[in-house]
Amino acid sequence: MDHKIAPSVLSADFANIQRDVEMINKSEADWFHIDIMDGVFVPNISFGFPVMSAIKEHAKKPLDVHLMIVDPDRYISEFKKAGADVLTVHYEACTHLHRTIQAIKAEGMKAGVALNPHTPVHLLKDVLPDLDLVCIMSVNPGFGGQKFIRNTFNKVKELKALILEVESDTLIEIDGGVGTDNAKLLVECGADVLVAGSSVFKSSNPLKTIIQLKKLERVVKSA
Ligand code: DX5
Ligand code: ZN
Repeated sequence: MDHKIAPSVLSADFANIQRDVEMINKSEADWFHIDIMDGVFVPNISFGFPVMSAIKEHAKKPLDVHLMIVDPDRYISEFKKAGADVLTVHYEACTHLHRTIQAIKAEGMKAGVALNPHTPVHLLKDVLPDLDLVCIMSVNPGFGGQKFIRNTFNKVKELKALILEVESDTLIEIDGGVGTDNAKLLVECGADVLVAGSSVFKSSNPLKTIIQLKKLERVVKSA
């Protein structure tokens, strides 16, 4: 399967959000990655339903929504209404994860679970057949522009082996510090979806960077 690129709108220019959404529409990117932060689960607040609905109005590609919020069950149907296609909750934020996953699917969305850098992938083994996506956080969630944690490569390989073992078709997504310097190796380890925030939006040529991420051209940043 071809890997997907999901630019993270968190790094877009919010004063020109329609322009940036149109840029993703005409790019080689596959999904929009939407980060929702509540200031409790993570030490930052991003944006809520009105902004997400405005993005949905212009977006011509699926919305991949990453909830960094406590007790996400309260808002599952609201996120469906706001236009989520894939809804990802954090393992660390869900007491009854199996029930949460079923509730997301019952709303007709794809269900994902994200893991913080300290959470081992094997904890998801029993729910893997129910999951459309696992998001491995390669930074501590809360902010764009952080440094990639290298242990992620091991986690991707381990998760890929687990997915093959249980014969599920769960996608592996990587979120945080992804760019042209590490994209190729991540895909070689088993990644299916690469989230890219600052590497796309802070690039002098975002459309070209997206093509490079799609083609897995290795461009190492100079220090
Ligand atoms: C971090 C968010 C990420 C973030 C990625 O908590 O989940 O999606 O936007 O940004 P970069 O690619 O700049 O690390
Ligand atoms: Zn994210």
